[in-house]
Formats: sequence, C-alpha cells, structure tokens
Amino acid sequence: MIEFNFKYVLDSAIEENGIAESEIRALERELVQARKNLNGLRVNGGAGFYDEISNLGMIKDIKEVSGKLFSKGIETLYVFGMGGSSLGAVFLKEAMGAITGGRKSGRNIDVVFSENIDPGPIKRNIDNMDLEKTLFCFVSKSADTIEVVAQFFIVKEMLEKSVKNYKNNLLFITDKKSGFLRLYADENGIAVLDIAKNVGGRYSIVTAGTLFPAYAMGLDIEKFLSGAISYRDDILSKGVFENNPVYTFASAIYLFYAKKRRNIFVPFVYGDYLKEFSRWFRQLFAESLGKELVSPTPVPAAGATDQHSQLQLYMQGPQDKLIGFFCLKDFGSDFTVNSNGFKEFDYLNKKKLSEILKNELKGVELALAINKRPSFRITLDKIDEFSLGELSFMSMEAVAVLGMLLKINPFDQPGVEKGKKFAYLLMGRKDESLSAESDELKRLDKIADMPY
Ligand code: PA5
Repeated sequence: MIEFNFKYVLDSAIEENGIAESEIRALERELVQARKNLNGLRVNGGAGFYDEISNLGMIKDIKEVSGKLFSKGIETLYVFGMGGSSLGAVFLKEAMGAITGGRKSGRNIDVVFSENIDPGPIKRNIDNMDLEKTLFCFVSKSADTIEVVAQFFIVKEMLEKSVKNYKNNLLFITDKKSGFLRLYADENGIAVLDIAKNVGGRYSIVTAGTLFPAYAMGLDIEKFLSGAISYRDDILSKGVFENNPVYTFASAIYLFYAKKRRNIFVPFVYGDYLKEFSRWFRQLFAESLGKELVSPTPVPAAGATDQHSQLQLYMQGPQDKLIGFFCLKDFGSDFTVNSNGFKEFDYLNKKKLSEILKNELKGVELALAINKRPSFRITLDKIDEFSLGELSFMSMEAVAVLGMLLKINPFDQPGVEKGKKFAYLLMGRKDESLSAESDELKRLDKIADMPY
C-alpha cells in the first residue's frame, strides 16, 4: 500500500507559504473533469497505459519469446533503447536489488543497458561479453530512433563476422506494424515483440519494452502488473477525494506551481533502490508536462546522499521548490549499530541503520517546515513487484491528471521530435517538414562555428 502525508504543505504547518485544505478541495470539479477527459482518451485509444496492464497476450508473448531465445545458453541480455524505451527497465533492474539482494535470478541472465551512444562504454560492454551467449535487444517504439538504429548496424556487423546463425541473438521490441525495425524483422526472420501504438515511451513501463528485460532479470511481471491493476481499479472506483490521495498529490504540485510560483518539483527518494525510479519519474514528468510554456521542472535527489549536496540550496535558497519525498517503511536488509561505549555516540547505540535514515528524513522534513518550505511524503511498505506496479501506475496517473490540470496533452512530445529531426537533417537526411525553418537553421548553425 502507498501512504501519503501532506501535513507540511498546509498553511496550518508552514503558514503563508502553505496552501489551505480548502484550496485543494476547490479543485474537485477540475479533477473530476480531468478524470473524465482521461477516460475519454482511454476509450478512444489515446491513453493506452490504462489497459495495457491487463494485456495477457503480451505476457504470453514475452514468455514464449524468452523460452525460445534463452534456451540456447544465453547468459547476457544487452538492451539498447533511449528515454522511455529503457528508463523503466533500468528502474526495475535497480529496484530488483531489494528483492533479490543482488543475487542473479532464476533465469540467471545478466541484463546490461545502453542508454547512450557514447562509444566508450559500448565498447567496454561488448569486450566483456561472449557474443554467442548474448541476446542483443533493440527497443524502439517508433522503430527508427537514430541511436538505436546506429547501434543495431554496429552489432549486426559484429555478429555477422563472429556468430553463426546470429539472427537467434537478436530481438526487436517495436511497433506492431511500421518502422524500420519492424520491417527488417519481418523480412529477415528476427524475433520481435510488439509495443502498443497507444502507449507512449514514458508510459511504456507496462509494455514488453520494459517487461521483457524485467522478466529476463527474474522480476515477476504478473505480480508487477497486478499491483498496477489493483491501484488503477481502486482509485478509479472512488471519488477524487474519497481516500484517494493520488489526486491530492497532483493537486499539490499544481497549486504550488500555479499559485505559489514554485517552479521546481523535487522527487527526493530515500533509499538507493529508488534512485533509478527518480530518473524514470523525472522523464515521465518532464516529457509529459513540459510544453506550451507550462510545467514545474523536476529535479530528482536521493537521501541521505544529497543531504550533503543539494539540501543547503533547498533549505535556504530561493523559495521556488516543492519537495516530494519517496521512502520505504521496510528496507529489507538492516544493520544494528554498536557504538562501542563511545559516550558521544550513545544515541546511536542499538539503532538500526534504516532507523537512522528515517530519522534523517524526518529531521529534513522538520527543518524544511521550520523554514516554511513545503514538502510531502509518499511511503511504500517495501519494495516488491506488487508495490512497484502500484508506484508506477500511481505516478503515471498523477502526471496524466497534472497534465489535465495544466491544460496540456501529457501524451505527446513535439519538442523532442524536432530535436531528432534536426539531427537527421545535419547528417544529410532530407525533411520537407523543416523547410520553413531552413534559413533560420542555417543561420544558427553558422553562428555555432564562429569563435566566441
Ligand atoms: O517518452 C518518450 O516518448 C521518449 O523518451 C521515447 O521513449 C524515446 O525518444 C525513444 O523513442 P522510441 O521508443 O521511439 O525509440
């Protein structure tokens, strides 16, 4: 279960810098409308994450493809994907550490990611792999993302030279019908899994793009999806303020942004197994909401580590941030401190390490509140597949609702598309849709080459 605590956003705690409960309540009509709009998109096929979590066919396909491809002595899965096509799986891989204690899963596969095209780490990864025993998996919903396709060509050439029947070492996860990877797979007999058309990259934690690598790691993907389904069914069956804090979560971020000029939202995780969650959340938030000149900027942080890095700024810097702490009740493993009779550390004696971390978090919350700085807390019981499913769905719903409150479409990413197109153009790919901007592009490109 996910618990929320909004005490320290209220004016009863932080006075003029807080918001009144009545302000949150006053958003009820807009929240109800937001849910209606999202439901409309869901019904029309524009918001696929709501239903993809119940796609049993996808689970069957993932298991079948795994059974086929991993049966031949594969030891490593090397996943190539950008943004939403890798961040979810990277988040789950890290969180899995809490479930397995870092041991390899039953499937005994090492899962390695390439989230960039920096040649150094790619070479290091490949040098450390036995190519015959590696499955190279290319994840791209659009099926032609430049970084993924470039890496595919490199891997293909390497495999052709050194691995017999190398096509068995390839898997594509991509659009069902169109795009380069799909066509190549169909023409060349490469194994392929589908990504539903109506699930955008940053919501694709519920698609094969994330769940295939997660399954290879040993994550129970059915439990993960049942956590998401249970969360969806619970929140959508109740009124927005009927013990349904995900809507208060969205409202708090909205109100502090729209009424209190808090332009920065800090998802501050306490627990190393949640660090990658904060990177996934940042992308979900930034790419979904950052458009039409609205949206707070998400800046992730991790405690207690970043108490010694960003906290000074958050305590006494500009009053422009809202902090959302994410923490755990049960950290799984633990240690007890023996202060060895050192009097000045008596207060630490017999304390669990997790207790110290929780007290540090409470100390920070109190110090922020005393400085009249808003924060709220979201707590998971522990990390397991079910709670990760709940957390993922809760985050996607909160961001989608926030999009509705900000009156923008949380499911497109026009800014990213343009950057991709410019890069293609610079490398010589013609694109008629950019012709209106071509003079301005030439001017700016020339400026970049001038000395300054
Ligand atoms: O969230 C998004 O839509 C993006 O981050 C995409 O996931 C990213 O650009 C990769 O796109 P694709 O999966 O089409 O290769």
